[in-house]
Amino acid sequence: MSLRFQLIRCIAAGLVRMPTGLSMNFRRRSILACATLCLAMVGVEPYAAAQATTADSPHQSKQVAHPSNAQLADPSLEVRVDRLLGRMTLEEKIGQLVQYNDTGDASAIQTSKAPQAADKPGAMDALNPMRAKNVNAMQLAAAGLLGSMLNTIGAERTNTYQHLAVEKSRLHIPLLFGADVIHGYRTIYPVPLGLAASFDPQLVATVSHMAAEEATTGGVRWFYSPMVDISRDPRWGRSVEGAGEDPYLGAAMARAYIRGYQGDDLSKPGSVAASVKHFAAYGAAEAGREYNTTDMSEITLRQVYLPPYRAAVEAGAATVMSAFNSLNGVPASANPFLLSKILRGEWGFNGFVVSDYTAVMELIHHGIALDPATATRKAITAGVDVDMMSHFYDTQLPGLVRSGQVPMAVVDEAVRRVLRVKFATGLFEHPYAEGLEVTAAVAGHRPLVRKAAEESFVLLQNDKLASGAPLLPLSLASKRVALIGPLADDAEQMIGAWSGAPNLHDTITLRKALAERTQQLGGTLLYAKGTEIDDPSQAGFPAAIEAARASDVAILALGESSRMSGEAGSRTSLELPGNQQQLLEAVAATGKPVVLLIFSGRPLVLNWAAQHIPAIMETWFPGTEAGNAIADVLYGDVSPSGKLPMSFPRAVGQEPLYYNQFPTGRPPTGIDLSKPPTGDSRFFSRYIDVPNDALFPFGYGLSYSTFSYRDVKVSRTSILLPQALANRSTPLLEATATVTNTGDRTATEVVQCYVRNLGASIEQPVRSLKGFERVTLLPGESKQVSFPLGFNELSFFNLESSPTIEATHYTVWIGGSSLASQEASFLVDSPESKSRSARIRQGSAN
Ligand code: BGC
Repeated sequence: MSLRFQLIRCIAAGLVRMPTGLSMNFRRRSILACATLCLAMVGVEPYAAAQATTADSPHQSKQVAHPSNAQLADPSLEVRVDRLLGRMTLEEKIGQLVQYNDTGDASAIQTSKAPQAADKPGAMDALNPMRAKNVNAMQLAAAGLLGSMLNTIGAERTNTYQHLAVEKSRLHIPLLFGADVIHGYRTIYPVPLGLAASFDPQLVATVSHMAAEEATTGGVRWFYSPMVDISRDPRWGRSVEGAGEDPYLGAAMARAYIRGYQGDDLSKPGSVAASVKHFAAYGAAEAGREYNTTDMSEITLRQVYLPPYRAAVEAGAATVMSAFNSLNGVPASANPFLLSKILRGEWGFNGFVVSDYTAVMELIHHGIALDPATATRKAITAGVDVDMMSHFYDTQLPGLVRSGQVPMAVVDEAVRRVLRVKFATGLFEHPYAEGLEVTAAVAGHRPLVRKAAEESFVLLQNDKLASGAPLLPLSLASKRVALIGPLADDAEQMIGAWSGAPNLHDTITLRKALAERTQQLGGTLLYAKGTEIDDPSQAGFPAAIEAARASDVAILALGESSRMSGEAGSRTSLELPGNQQQLLEAVAATGKPVVLLIFSGRPLVLNWAAQHIPAIMETWFPGTEAGNAIADVLYGDVSPSGKLPMSFPRAVGQEPLYYNQFPTGRPPTGIDLSKPPTGDSRFFSRYIDVPNDALFPFGYGLSYSTFSYRDVKVSRTSILLPQALANRSTPLLEATATVTNTGDRTATEVVQCYVRNLGASIEQPVRSLKGFERVTLLPGESKQVSFPLGFNELSFFNLESSPTIEATHYTVWIGGSSLASQEASFLVDSPESKSRSARIRQGSAN
């Protein structure tokens, strides 16, 4: 969470529900404003300024051939866009491309003076150029020189700005209010990495729609979400904001968010426009260091990093945010290859692109522009339509257009894209926050976020005790429960790195929930904080040890603070921070059974715990219902079902560590990597001090039940290549397996399907997820699960950057993690290469 967002949180916390009278008043004024606007739109404007000429005739649509969002391509909407564009001055057009946050006061709104030219940026600018440049967003809104605002929270604030834009500005164009609603607005659900662990896209769609419903009551109609950056390196703090390391899971989650936010109609109440971010490959920041450069092959880009963005765009995402990072030397916010060729050209994206915060200005720091004018020209001509906070478009574009360095047509096109979204969201008809404003966690949403939290937890370990029963779920005979740790009673941490605008007192901590639960069960809760999250003092250790000694079971709530991940939260250590490891060891030394709950925005290194602690559960940052959801799972009301969306390493030095890696020429097959190499076992792709694999791999997670798999099959063992290439939309075959609940309680398993392609002209990952399904089974119940496999699942990118299938051999595994071992296989055969296929078959058997 950035500094400015903290500020917004404080402001938001102080906001009270808008009084009904005021809201009615707003509504009356909004009707008036709309009427004025409609009149203005049908009338002929007497003063179309000379510089307002558009490059195109009003009816010449600039829409792409196969638009990603049908609503934005509606011809009737285009007529409105043309009509309005034709009446705009250059300054008004540029205004639509400018975005600022909440600044200024209404008393300053006397003139429509344009902002001052930006100076050479200094250190202040890197944080917030507005502080240095003294931009008055209110003044700009009233003058029609502002198109959108970010992180302006609460109906009172958004309506204040909107009244200025709609009533005072010449063309009455409403502002679009965007906000970082990443995992809930007032009722908070788990951080996105946690949500991804649910492997439940329907759940994601449901809770993200819930957030949209809440936020729209405060006037927010645009979310800077979902973040779909693939992250293979947990040192990168923003891993918490995405769906982890896998493109297939990432794409499924991306679609779900778009469905939840936008629904099937952007103009419906409760819908918001999504902004897919950060385009592109931001998650590959070198060495996991925030804002760092990225460098990768085009094949990796297309095969691993782009699929979730593409899925979001194809699901209709109305906007995209260009990233901070450079990609192969070209900053993403001035990158025509990404923004024009791929995004618009190949994917037909017809929404608008907003830069990340000051990313246009940062082109200077990247060293590809010596001055604001060049940065502006490069950004807008590459395809960045809206400048978030750089203070460059408003100060530089007028001169650039007048001097011909940026064609008017480029500006016009960017404005069109913005206006389309504004029309499609129904902002012109409903510019103001309407209805009863949601200012606190909503009672009716609590069950949803509780369920989301429960599904997000990943049970990493659950060893049997001497009694023969696993430690979890907790035995009701364990009456005295010790709750220890800095995350046991800290509401602020529970709501994670980037929740919208929650009230902390709405949040249920673990201490609160367990106090109630133990009391209901006739037991006692013994609480001791033990230590701070990141502090060397051991002053709290004795009380913690005493509580553990006096208990039947000790629950430790350890991990990171929510600020240790998220934006600018890169870490070089993945260990428990501060002296929490020592606290864990001290409590374990009491000999009491210990349940370790990990709160974190990333995978941590948990080697010691894995060897010494019987039960470990990753709980991420669960949100408003944190405590209740954890209690539900600890006591067995719900069986855990989450699976890891990122590999948990054994050592930070393994990073980036991900399951879908490429093979090497020296695979250490059959070698015991837990032992240092000897002469024979040295010259393989391995470390001499740590095994290669993850401590807890992608897709892994335990349940209170157990599951078995059998009959892994494919519906065809051979497909002719021409058929595989010709058919790009329907499945070519099905992979199936039967899964059985072999335990004694009803539970949910995430059945996963992985594929490997051997023999292609480009080497392919050792396995890749190509399907998953959550299956709930009664004890003893079985179900056959099927995964359709078609061109999308079986193709790969060749050296010409085209997706293709070759005559190769495929292995399919179905099971409960990326270690699934039961397999089936099939061939793609070219008619003329039967003998080659036979060779491949022969080779893969070796
Ligand atoms: C972040 C974005 C965010 C934007 C607006 C930037 O610093 O990278 O993810 O949407 O700020 O708050």
